[in-house]
Amino acid sequence: MLKIAHRGAKAYEPENTLIAFQKALDLNADGIELDVHLSADGHIIVIHDETIDRTTDGNGLVNSFSLSELKSFLIDGKYKIPTLNEVFDLVDKKCLINIELKGLGTARKVVKIIEEYISEKNWNYEDFIVSGFDWNMLEETSNLNSKIPIGVLTEENIAAALAFAENIKAKAIHPDFHLLNNENVLQIQEKGFMVLPWTINSEEDIQKVKSYKVDGIISDNPDKI
Ligand code: G3P
Ligand code: CA
Repeated sequence: MLKIAHRGAKAYEPENTLIAFQKALDLNADGIELDVHLSADGHIIVIHDETIDRTTDGNGLVNSFSLSELKSFLIDGKYKIPTLNEVFDLVDKKCLINIELKGLGTARKVVKIIEEYISEKNWNYEDFIVSGFDWNMLEETSNLNSKIPIGVLTEENIAAALAFAENIKAKAIHPDFHLLNNENVLQIQEKGFMVLPWTINSEEDIQKVKSYKVDGIISDNPDKI
């Protein structure tokens, strides 16, 4: 069962920062999950919200700032917002990277970066899984490069996610864990897809979801899995 650190090890360090991803590696996580948006000048930025308001000392839409402007804002007074390339370089193939496409327009650029790391730095497709709630962006990813593993995120409808996953030949379903039970986990796996639910943090919920025999768990505290 894969232990995947949500937004880095978010329980221990500020989310989606290099220090949070390093903490995930230190905790021996099998993977990290992160969220991406586009900057105004076309860089892939690792941040959850479409604005910088909640997590930095600045205000405004991520896509209204250039990369150099975004680098001037601080998280918890000392950390900078990372780019996707900086996270890849930190991880250096040590664990799986789950890239959640949040911002519109991110699919094409993320595919390009993944392809660069595979062709120039000897990474493998299995080092990545691209997920998203916006299934149009997942379809775009698959159309651009069908070898990139895809995870279909859903918070409401396993059956629809399964049908879409079959359609685009995805690798995994990423459901809100509240949707799961023994039967539907088995049903998803029998169709050949991994089940990677989120975001499971309490000991009680972790035990319950583990009993369904899922393929991995996305958690703020992956060490508790
Ligand atoms: O990828 C699973 C989970 O991260 C989705 O929710 O809001 O934390 O991005 P959120
Ligand atoms: Ca996410």
